[in-house]
Amino acid sequence: MAPSRPRPVLLLTLALLAACVALTLGQKWNPLNDVFRREHVDNPKTIATNNNAYCNRMMWDRVMYWKYSNTFIHETPENITKVCTTEGVANGPYRYESKNEFNITSCTFNPWSISYTGISSSQKIVIACWDGLPVFYVKSK
Ligand SMILES: *[C@@H]1O[C@H](CO)[C@@H](O)[C@H](O)[C@H]1NC(C)=O
Ligand SMILES: *[C@@H]1O[C@H](CO)[C@@H](O)[C@H](O)[C@H]1NC(C)=O
Repeated sequence: MAPSRPRPVLLLTLALLAACVALTLGQKWNPLNDVFRREHVDNPKTIATNNNAYCNRMMWDRVMYWKYSNTFIHETPENITKVCTTEGVANGPYRYESKNEFNITSCTFNPWSISYTGISSSQKIVIACWDGLPVFYVKSK
């Protein structure tokens, strides 16, 4: 008897079904945007005693303790998404630089203290967009 094999047709059908459900619900199906929100959007900013405590808590809560550095943007997803269209200027392939400054907190791992150091500032951000939605955080400037 032949061993059972994965069925690509079945998987494709399921993927199309998921896409249809997303379209029916009137939302764009963009898993990378979901990841972007989890990793980079925190609005309003989660309360912590200071920026270092903020970073240590957030990197743990958002399951990013494997990352060397990460930036959180304290703005609504809707307002960040506008950087992909009217509130941004094209800056390389798929990249947009915001016209306005955003309140952000940058977290960087410090190997000496084995913890994160946080710095908050107001800066322009550069993000990568796909299909009108943010998918990657590039940098602040
Ligand atoms: C979104 O951006 C607009 C225009 O920059 C600003 O007036 C508004 O306060 C922002 N919304 C929120 C919820 O921060
Ligand atoms: C950024 O934070 C400052 C200080 O908390 C606040 O006054 C300002 O309105 C914020 N800016 C934006 C764009 O949300």
